[in-house]
Amino acid sequence: MCGIVGFNGHQQAAPILLQGLTKLEYRGYDSAGLCVRDGSEPAVIIKAKGRLSVLKEKTNDGLSVHGDCGIGHTRWATHGEPSETNAHPHCSDDGNVIGVHNGIIENYQELKEKLLRNGYTFYSETDTEIAIKLIDYYYKKYLHTPVDAINHALVRIRGSYALELMFKDYPGEIYVARKDSPMILGIANGESYIASDVPAILKYTRTVYYIGNQQLARVGKGEITFYNLDGDEIEIEPKTVEWDAAAAEKGGYEHFMMKEIHEQPKAVQDTLHSVEHDGVIDLSGIGITDEQIQKLRQIYIVACGSAYHVGVAAQYVLEDLAGIPVRVELASEFRYRHLPFSENASEDSLVIIISQSGETADSLAALRKAHEKGLPTLGVVNVVGSSIAREADHVFYTLAGPEIAVATTKAYSAQLVALYTIAIQFGKVRGLISDEDYTKYIADLEALPAKIEKVLEDESRIQWFAAKQSNAHDVFFIGRGIDYAISLEGSLKLKEISYVHSEAYAAGELKHGTISLIEDGTLVISVLTQPRLIEKTTSNMVEVRSRGAYLMGLTTYGNYDVEDLADFTTYVPATDPHFAASVAVIPLQLLAYYFAVSRGLDVDKPRNLAKSVTVE
Ligand code: F6R
Repeated sequence: MCGIVGFNGHQQAAPILLQGLTKLEYRGYDSAGLCVRDGSEPAVIIKAKGRLSVLKEKTNDGLSVHGDCGIGHTRWATHGEPSETNAHPHCSDDGNVIGVHNGIIENYQELKEKLLRNGYTFYSETDTEIAIKLIDYYYKKYLHTPVDAINHALVRIRGSYALELMFKDYPGEIYVARKDSPMILGIANGESYIASDVPAILKYTRTVYYIGNQQLARVGKGEITFYNLDGDEIEIEPKTVEWDAAAAEKGGYEHFMMKEIHEQPKAVQDTLHSVEHDGVIDLSGIGITDEQIQKLRQIYIVACGSAYHVGVAAQYVLEDLAGIPVRVELASEFRYRHLPFSENASEDSLVIIISQSGETADSLAALRKAHEKGLPTLGVVNVVGSSIAREADHVFYTLAGPEIAVATTKAYSAQLVALYTIAIQFGKVRGLISDEDYTKYIADLEALPAKIEKVLEDESRIQWFAAKQSNAHDVFFIGRGIDYAISLEGSLKLKEISYVHSEAYAAGELKHGTISLIEDGTLVISVLTQPRLIEKTTSNMVEVRSRGAYLMGLTTYGNYDVEDLADFTTYVPATDPHFAASVAVIPLQLLAYYFAVSRGLDVDKPRNLAKSVTVE
């Protein structure tokens, strides 16, 4: 959601800002803008509704706007419709303060009334304009210094923000502040960069500062000073980003999604090898002790969207292998729910938060709720230094590399393998897995990348089927157990990028209502990877077929009976059934991709969606 960039150096800022915004396009946006300042000349603001290309055209790719210090923004509308007026940057009436903002100001109404009483007027419907004018108000009321004015305003603002500000009296400086919205700062060759996400600045630097919650910074040319809310200077150590610049490029693929689908063998292998060496899983880097594992009586897995679907699959695996009851919760529900936790929850429970971005607002709030209740937390996170990674008691980093396509693929696969290693190790420590089974499970995990590769080789068959079916109006995915978890993910992938209505059902649930929707030609995709449940799901296939459904079967090599029933069958290599999601999800990702391509849609940036959902 919303992207922020900033540059303060010795080159023209606008082209660099536009390049950074291009790299952040994947986050989702509906308008864009920038502000550039040339020395002490007045700042120039240019905004445009719609695609970034409109802003590029308006500024001749940035060449017609002069100045070596500037800020830029892509806006994903929350307060006020997408329009040029509501686009950022926003500005106080006399141009004293100019700024861009990611996040939501919850008490904007109360702040607006205060400002109205003090003679301010408003031209936009945004909460950002209110924040900018509040800072202007405190600037003029007190010390006429940016840090003091920002701090006064931040004390009054409730909500989340990543703010970039420029002050008329302070040319050649940018001020930033952050709370619960992502922002990083980078330095290279006497120049400074600001971004809401690493890919925007990877090309220029890999030395970054992760600014903390409720901290501020003054960004000069190649020098950054950090402050706390009292206005005192604080030290923040720079960190090196491991991702390389090529990782955030399409690398010859037409879409990031396809590139990322093909990166899955590596993402799975890298994530596995981060904790498994020579056939032994070692979670000591994550800091969860064997004693803690032995005491566990309850695990909560909390996440949103696809990460939640990883949780659904992992629930079966953890319960089976580690013998610990697992509740999988949507973060948006968990955060507001009055769950009665056991008296010993701080010792015998663990909350696992799964998040690619590490910034999803609901998942972060769920993590904080767990802490409030005294429950230990483990974040399974892809983005280093993200809020969830910073706040969780323990962190398991998935090594998927930057994921740019809005629809997750490689991060989902990396999360799955992370959860498998946790389940196996927990089971081993709790004495539920014999040495022999342990060795076998690890060998199965080691074999996953090659099996995923094999499914990818069969891509053209799925492409053909997708082209044939892409006019479908409704698609149903059915499966039992882990096949149900796979169905949930297959269905979400399809609907989010192809805009075809689809639903996933536990196959046994069909008869309780949904089967009335099946009519002649309705596409039903049946997932059958769990040997002990195949017969049961097959009966459900028979039921829908006799009501006219067009059937696709997704099963493992060897289950050739499925072909007798299904109109189209696709096979994936068999694995231990616990880990089947890793292999079986691949054809469903490809199916979604080719549905969207056949329908001529923007695969990487589906409408209304944002990569990182940083607001509720
Ligand atoms: C779907 C998708 C989303 C995310 C969800 C959580 O393809 O990507 O459903 O899984 O928004 O995001 P993270 O993992 O960043 O917390």
